[in-house]
Amino acid sequence: EAENPPTQTQRPEPVNLIMIGMAGSGKTTLMQRMNAYLHERNDAPYVVNLDPAVAKLPFQANIDIRDTVDYKQVMSEYSLGPNGGILTSLNLFATKLDQVMEIVEKRAQSKRYFLYDTPGQIEIFTWSASGTIITNTLAASHPTVVVYVVDTPRSASPATFMSNMMYACSILYKTQLPFLVAFNKTDVVDDAFAREWMADFEAFQRALAAEEDETFMNSLMHSMCLVLDEFYTHLRAVGVSAMTGQGIPDLFAKIDDAVAEYHAEF
Ligand code: GTP
Repeated sequence: EAENPPTQTQRPEPVNLIMIGMAGSGKTTLMQRMNAYLHERNDAPYVVNLDPAVAKLPFQANIDIRDTVDYKQVMSEYSLGPNGGILTSLNLFATKLDQVMEIVEKRAQSKRYFLYDTPGQIEIFTWSASGTIITNTLAASHPTVVVYVVDTPRSASPATFMSNMMYACSILYKTQLPFLVAFNKTDVVDDAFAREWMADFEAFQRALAAEEDETFMNSLMHSMCLVLDEFYTHLRAVGVSAMTGQGIPDLFAKIDDAVAEYHAEF
């Protein structure tokens, strides 16, 4: 009897990564960096661009929403502003999602990571029917991790930090998916302050008090940070720089942790 060929190491199951974050947080740059990192490891990802309004992509997308819908044409055809144009483009794309998923699934045997970049205006994706349909469809196909990208320098004040984390929290509860916060731009501002605020409720309160004016916002935030304290307990977070590549291996380690935990649960 012929000897069996050497067994190939079995490829782990595909993982979808959805990049979500405020405009300018660095989703696209981070995705480019993750793409480059995986290429270096001979683990080239499958890349999908869901931002119809992006002018120029710094990476080659395998599937690009711009090939399906012309955002400028949608704007003029339906007399829409920029945000309406993006939303309508996403809706039009969602109607063809089954075809897209067929194409993507053909690659599911040969790729580990499937990266999805979302529109710059976060709420267009997170609070739209089409964004929800896309997210749910991905989540039904393979383990799906939301990578929530935070502009760390722009979250360095307690008020902006709190708003950003509330937003992250709402997305976690809405999607119910494995979730990872990527504190981006650590080449500009280290994320140590964020870790301290998340780990130590009183440190955050002190930072808040140091902002002096006891306004309505401040008292609201005092109550809110009690809510967030619970959110932080289970939160995976990693500091990264899309610019320098710092923290990218750790980002993938945490993604794999999130997937492992997901498997353990289901
Ligand atoms: P939208 O185009 O609004 O979707 O933004 P985005 O979230 O995709 O952000 P993008 O990648 O376009 O980055 C926004 C700006 O931040 C660009 O000027 C980037 O060069 C810059 N940027 C992104 N990541 C980093 C980083 O790690 N460090 C620094 N210093 N700048 C960064």
